[in-house]
Amino acid sequence: MNNRGEWSSKLGFILAASGSAIGLGNIWRFPYITGSNGGGAFVLIYLLCVFIVAFPVMIVELTIGRKAKRNPVGAFKAIAPNSKWWIIGAMGVMAGFGILSYYSVVAGWTIAYIVKGVTGGLTASHLDPAAIFNSFASNGFLQIFYLFLFSALTVFVVIGGVKNGIEKAAKILLPLLFVLMLLLIGYVLTLPGAMDGLKFYLVPDFSKVNSHTILMAMGQAFFSLSLGMGAMITYGSYLPDDDDLFSSALYVTFFDTLIAILAGFIIFPALGGAPTKAGPSLVFVVLVDVFRKIPFGGVIAVVFFVLMAIAALTSTVSLLEVVTSYLIDEKGISRKKAAIGAGIVIALLGIPSALSLGANKFFTKIGFLDKMDFVFGNIFLTFGGLMMCLFVAYKWGLECFFEHLSEGCDHVGKPHFNRWLQIAIYFICPLAIAILLLYILLTGETLG
Ligand code: TRP
Repeated sequence: MNNRGEWSSKLGFILAASGSAIGLGNIWRFPYITGSNGGGAFVLIYLLCVFIVAFPVMIVELTIGRKAKRNPVGAFKAIAPNSKWWIIGAMGVMAGFGILSYYSVVAGWTIAYIVKGVTGGLTASHLDPAAIFNSFASNGFLQIFYLFLFSALTVFVVIGGVKNGIEKAAKILLPLLFVLMLLLIGYVLTLPGAMDGLKFYLVPDFSKVNSHTILMAMGQAFFSLSLGMGAMITYGSYLPDDDDLFSSALYVTFFDTLIAILAGFIIFPALGGAPTKAGPSLVFVVLVDVFRKIPFGGVIAVVFFVLMAIAALTSTVSLLEVVTSYLIDEKGISRKKAAIGAGIVIALLGIPSALSLGANKFFTKIGFLDKMDFVFGNIFLTFGGLMMCLFVAYKWGLECFFEHLSEGCDHVGKPHFNRWLQIAIYFICPLAIAILLLYILLTGETLG
């Protein structure tokens, strides 16, 4: 257990965990959900959900992980031996398989779009972005090719291990992501429609807000912060005991939210107003159409998709790490074999999703990718988050939880902080998440 690996520093952890959190959820999903939910008002509600509901769950996951120093299954077994709580961890590992399989499909698109951009097949004025997307989406060979390519990249990083693979990749890629984003923001703000776009994004219109909006925001906060399946348990398990978990969780939450907000500062000024079509195609079709019309659009498009690929990679790495750490800790398999084996199985599992956008009639008809997202990205995550809160509140016990949390944590011991976290974990989070779960199950609606 001692050579499981550990982050080299607090900064190393913060970057790796932020890398997990910052992903397609921030750059692709957040803007289009904001677009279809009224802009500014949604952003405000999202911020509330992040700090009231998601942040305490992040602390819960990190604390469980650091205490047990195990993968999600092993963690529940270590803290609550002879109980069935490990099933929550097992569901997390399954969610890792499930989410990674379809997430890698979309991640693969970013590489394909970089290639198209570089070779001039994306933004030339005679091209139709919708037609490009549709013909790409219905090309089964290319879909599978890019799925496997992206899976291979993910496996490559995870094989490198905690310090030399995951942390190193995050240390190089995240600063790069940040710089590219600032460059793009600087550029799009000079476009003629920028102010109209910003107005839509920043001026709240509360007439568009209803209970659906709030639940969407909560689901998005969960997904964006990588909560509910033990990714943060796994990353927390590589933290030393004297780390101040509270501040670590706060940094990760802050960076993730910052990048989501900044993504909006790229997309809405570029669109120059409320998006006409807000859905998964927002980035791959609508935005590409914008790139076609602006000066230097070809370069901007490539930079944008590089940025998206970076964000996606540091996330897929965390999803694979959950599965890998399970195989290492529980099954005694070497890291290399575990990462490669799991990577292959996941890529194969991704094939139906890859073919569900037009390439194969059957998978397209059932909307396989969306179904996977519904089951794993929505149901499993919310259920997992709910059970983790209940675990800490009613099984592990808040007293033991706080005792461990307070090791290395300056804030704990201050009564108002404790009380707030207690109330959050006992009532607010379980209640809010349970309502979200019920809503998802009853409406059968994907939050996204
Ligand atoms: N948070 C990532 C994003 O925003 C996706 C992700 C990575 C994730 N690991 C996760 C989501 C674990 C849920 C659970 O794109």
